[in-house]
Parts: sequence; C-alpha cells; structure tokens
Amino acid sequence: MNNICLETSASGKGDFRACAVRTSLGTLDFVYQSHTISEGIVDPGSHTPIPEGDKNDASTLKIVLADKVLPIVLELYYIAFTEVDVIARASRIVNNTGSSITLKGLASLQLDLFDSSWQVISLDGAWAREREVHVQDIKAATLSWNVRCGTSSAFHNPCIFLKRPDCSQSHGEAIGINLVYSGNHQQIIEPNEFGKVRLLTALGNDSFTWPLGPGQSFATPMAVMTYSDKGLNQASDNFARFTNRHIIRGYWRYRQRPVLLNNWEATYFDFSQDKLIKLANQAKSLGIELFVLDDGWFGRRTDDTKGLGDWTANPRKLPQGIEGLAQQIHQIGMMFGIWVEPEMVSQNSELYEKHPDWAVQLEGRDPSFGRSQLLLDLRRDEVQAYIIDSISKVLENVDYMKWDMNRLFSDYPDEGFFHSWMIGLYKVLGALRPRFPKVLMEACSSGGNRFDLGMLCFFDQVWTSDDTDALQRTRIQEGTSYGYSQVCMGSHVSACPNHQSLRSTDIETRFNVAAFGNLGYELDLGLLTPLQRSQVKAQIAYYKEHRPALQYGRLYRMDTEENRRMWVVEDPASGDLLVLDFQVHVRPNSTGDMLRLYMADENASYQLSSRPQKLDIRLFGSLINRVSPIKIEDGKALQRNIAENWGMDTETTTAIIGGDVLKHAGVKLDPQFTGTGYDSRTRVLGDCGSRLYWFRKL
Ligand code: DGJ
Repeated sequence: MNNICLETSASGKGDFRACAVRTSLGTLDFVYQSHTISEGIVDPGSHTPIPEGDKNDASTLKIVLADKVLPIVLELYYIAFTEVDVIARASRIVNNTGSSITLKGLASLQLDLFDSSWQVISLDGAWAREREVHVQDIKAATLSWNVRCGTSSAFHNPCIFLKRPDCSQSHGEAIGINLVYSGNHQQIIEPNEFGKVRLLTALGNDSFTWPLGPGQSFATPMAVMTYSDKGLNQASDNFARFTNRHIIRGYWRYRQRPVLLNNWEATYFDFSQDKLIKLANQAKSLGIELFVLDDGWFGRRTDDTKGLGDWTANPRKLPQGIEGLAQQIHQIGMMFGIWVEPEMVSQNSELYEKHPDWAVQLEGRDPSFGRSQLLLDLRRDEVQAYIIDSISKVLENVDYMKWDMNRLFSDYPDEGFFHSWMIGLYKVLGALRPRFPKVLMEACSSGGNRFDLGMLCFFDQVWTSDDTDALQRTRIQEGTSYGYSQVCMGSHVSACPNHQSLRSTDIETRFNVAAFGNLGYELDLGLLTPLQRSQVKAQIAYYKEHRPALQYGRLYRMDTEENRRMWVVEDPASGDLLVLDFQVHVRPNSTGDMLRLYMADENASYQLSSRPQKLDIRLFGSLINRVSPIKIEDGKALQRNIAENWGMDTETTTAIIGGDVLKHAGVKLDPQFTGTGYDSRTRVLGDCGSRLYWFRKL
C-alpha cells in the first residue's frame, strides 16, 4: 500500500503515510462502492462556503466508498470547473455504526504523486509581512504547515504550490492547491521510501476533534487544485480566474472597484466630522470615488482598549450619526463606507456589561487578551443574531463596509471549538451578505491575517496588509498573486516615512506598486504638497484609464534578478500590456535594463509609452547646483520650497515596436543615472524607484 498512489487513505492496512481519514477506530479500509456524475456543483454539506457554478461551467463526480467491515461511508467529491482549469475536492464521512466515534481528522484533498522531484512554494509571514514566497525542496522527511491561531492567518496561507525544480514563472510544471476556508488549516507534504509524495490539505487537524454520533456525518471544506505545464504564472492565472468567476459573487463580480480614501492612517482615532468632510472634499477633488471611515466612530471607542461591540455612532464624533455623515459624503459626490469589527467585544463596552458571558473565556481562568479585546462566541445563536441585527443597522446607510478582525484565538473550551466557531461566522456572513447585495464588502484582519477563499465567498476584496511600504508591498502583493486575483487585493498609497517600516519611498513608486491591485489612498491629503497633489491627481486618472487591465487583467510575474521586480498585466479586451519595473537598490554601472515580454503577441505591433512621473529635486541633493543658476542648499527652505511646488519630468520612453522583437529580444531602456551626466533620456530611479510602461497593442 505504501507504494501506491491513492485518492484517499486510512491507517492500519499498510499505508504508513499521513492519512486522509483519522478516527478513534484506528484501522479502516475504504473500498469503492459506486459513483455519480452530476451537472453543476453538489454541495457535500459542510456548512462552509463553496464556490459558485452551474451546469455550464461545473460538474461533480461523487465517489462513494465504504469500509470493508464497519458501516462507515466515505464520499469523495471532485468538482471540475471547466472554464478555469480548477478542480475542487471535498470529503464526507458518515458513521452508520450505531455507536459514537471521534473524528480526528479528515482531509479535503489528498494528492499522491508518483515521484518526489518537486519543490514546494509556501506563502508564509507575519503581521506586516504577509505571504512571503518560500521555496523548499522535498527531501527525506515530511514538511507540514499547521495553523492553530483560529484564522487562516498571516503565518501560513492555505495556498501552496508544488513545482518541478526547473519550473519558472513562464515555463514548466506546477500544481497549485488552496482551501476554501478561513480558520485553522494544515498542509502536509510527505515523501516516502519509494519516492512517492503525498499531499494532504485539511482544516487544522492539530486542533480538531469532532464527535460523530450514530448516523451523523461530517463534510470538509472544499480544497481546490490546478495544474500548469506553462509555469507558475499559468497556475496563478487559473486561480485568479477561478476566484473572479466562482468565488467572488453577486453584484460586484467582475465589476470595477472604486478608488477609495481611508482615514485610518490620516487620523487614527483623532477625528471630528469636520475633519472627515474636509478629507472627503480633498479626496473628491483628486478623483477619489469612495470615502471610508475606519475605526473609532462608535460607542466609547476613543482608543483601542474600548467600545467594540457597541455599533452605534459616538455623538461627540458624529453628531448626525452615520446617516448624517453618509448624506454629506453623498452630497460631495462620493460613495461612503465604514469600518466594523463585529466578531469582537471590549471589556470596556456596553455589550460586555450586558452580556459578559458572550465573550470567549473560561471559568476560573484569566482570559488572554489580544489588542485588549475578547472574541465573541459565534457558536451561540443569540450572539449571531446580535451581530446580524446591529451590523444590518450600520449597513443601511453605507455603500461599502470594511469588516476587520484583530486578534487570534485563546481560551477555547475544546478542540471542536475552532471549526464550530467558524461555522457560526459563516452563518452570520451568509445572513448579512444577501441583505446588502450592493454594498461593497472588504474583509480585513490586522491587515492580511485572513486572506483566503472562504472570506472571498462573502467579501468582494480583502485588505492585503497593513504594511503599505512600497518595497515590502512588492513582496506581499507578489506572494498574494500566487493564489488570488488583483481585484481582491486592497492596495493603498500611504504617507512617508511609512508608518510600518519608517522607510521613505517616492510617491510615484508607492502608486506604481499599489496600482497593481485594488487602489486606495490612506494618508492625510491635506499634508500633500502642491506637487504631490498634482501627482496624485494624475495617478488616479491613469489608474482609471487602465482600471480594467489593472483589476482584471492577466498578471505575469517576471523572472528577474533579486534587485528587480517586474509585473505585467494584459488587458483582457485590448491585449495591451502594462508593465511595472521596480528597482530595489541602485547598482551603478550595471548591465542595463531590458523589457523582454514573453507574452507579447509576435504578430502584433505595440506603441510603448512610459507613464509621465515627476522627480523630487531633493533626490539630487547638492548635486543640483551643477546645473542650477542659483544656489540651492540641501535641506534648506529654498530647496523645500521648490520641491513642494515643482518636480522634474522623468525621461519619456516611447517607441513603436514589433511583438516579435518585444517577445524574443526586448526593448532596451535608457541608461540609469550613474553620476556622470544627466539629460532628458537618463532614467533616475534611485532606491525603490520604478516606472510604469504601457504597450498599446496596435
Ligand atoms: C487593523 C486594520 O488592518 C487597519 O487597516 C485598521 O482598520 C485598524 N485595524 C483599525 O483598528
């Protein structure tokens, strides 16, 4: 048994690898009974969200197995999503033994591969450093990713890839796996003595037991997988198209998302209605379409130690309530959105005073806090009803909602808690979403701590990370793009020095990186200099012009050296290509930069133009005096004055180029500045410098 590639597995019959089915019974031996093929999706009944699809783009194979001796049935589900090249997998077990048993683990997906010459790509990290790409070889022992904190987490995203060692972004074999689930999860990759590799994807078996009484069943969340023989980009594109077509649903599916301004990093908790209106007016004048009021508008919430649970406006901050503020924002001509964190309660809140027992804590133990707050017990009907009711009242007045979740789990009573809590959350979301079909909903969890396909079944986009530092964002967004589409990645331009990294990057670069996602701004627009205001206005206009490509285009991560990041999106309608060329550090007198785009259509021609950007003269320091007729001292008022009002134009790159040349040879970019001269064709990039190039297909 240990030398056979199996579709599922249980222990005790000679398969010594990690098994898909684990129960208190020990030995089980499942054999085929029957199968059915149906049009559309058959729901295994897990009470967790499942993808959408119908007879035109999905069909289900259900295989029924039974143990050779005991009346225990195992069903395997395979749902083929034909338009996007993705197969979903789920399992369901039924206990017909007449006695109670304990389920200790049931994998959604098992994939046994014939040989072990694969590498694993996992997306791991932390707060502000989510979904960093890690590549590991599969050697002699098991690799496993176990998430036990209650959310799908920034620690390990449920999306992983297997790839052949020679597989690149553009060539070779890759297999992508993900789980439609938002809680604890586990991925196991186990090579064995015969060089076979078993991959198991499951909800978090490390922190899971589930009683199965007589006649009871348990169905897993769905896992999804895709295969590419054209490199990692193809596999990611399958997942992106799957996310856009089968996961994101309802009114916002395939709709363009508005450019937003979020007040969080502009004001934190310190705002008044007047300040918000001022920000909204400034935003409107720059072309921003949606104004979002973040944390701090409700109950006693003047800082993060209090108020969670009391979802009514604080009259000192919003004298006319949310309704009044919404009206004013609408009058300005913008959509209005608001922040909530409904899964939580602060001890210092009216809700806690009334219902201390609604918080997750254990009698006789001091609770562990996260951000001074406690988790509500979403398993309870009355808690679910309270959230649905109080949040519905908030949603009546808004066009957008950001649903945050800012702590990890503790003080749980048993190992079934995590999953039953998650089912409670899905019940709440399942009740709220259809009530407000047109409200644009964004999930968030301390940034990107719950960026997964489960949340995306209810939310139209996810806040990718609190970290908006442009360099860090190139890593976070690139990692996220392995499993998810650009339209679901909230990407904001924020102030510098950046509030997470304290790094300063140019505002043009901040935009160029954020533009490859769902664009927003999150800074005090009143503090922008006149030059920056005009830059932001031009950025937003550019984004709107290219929004279909930037939000829905096919994304290609380019294989580049470490010092460079290059992303390309292909406009689905026109075939135009938009390229981000990002340089981490200046490296004087290096080879020179080419744009060689393997996806270019060799039978077409392209008109190339660089996005016009402005250079801050402070970049040149005292060197500017080599050309300036007057002396501009570095760091002094005159320099500041000029820099705040006027920027140098970046080089203009234009050309008409054949697709064959672009694909096979590439366009050589003008040389970068290296200290020995400057003219209108010198590219001044600096550290974390970048450009956007548009190849319009002629
Ligand atoms: C964490 C989120 O990620 C931030 O964007 C912000 O909404 C804060 N919470 C507010 O408390």
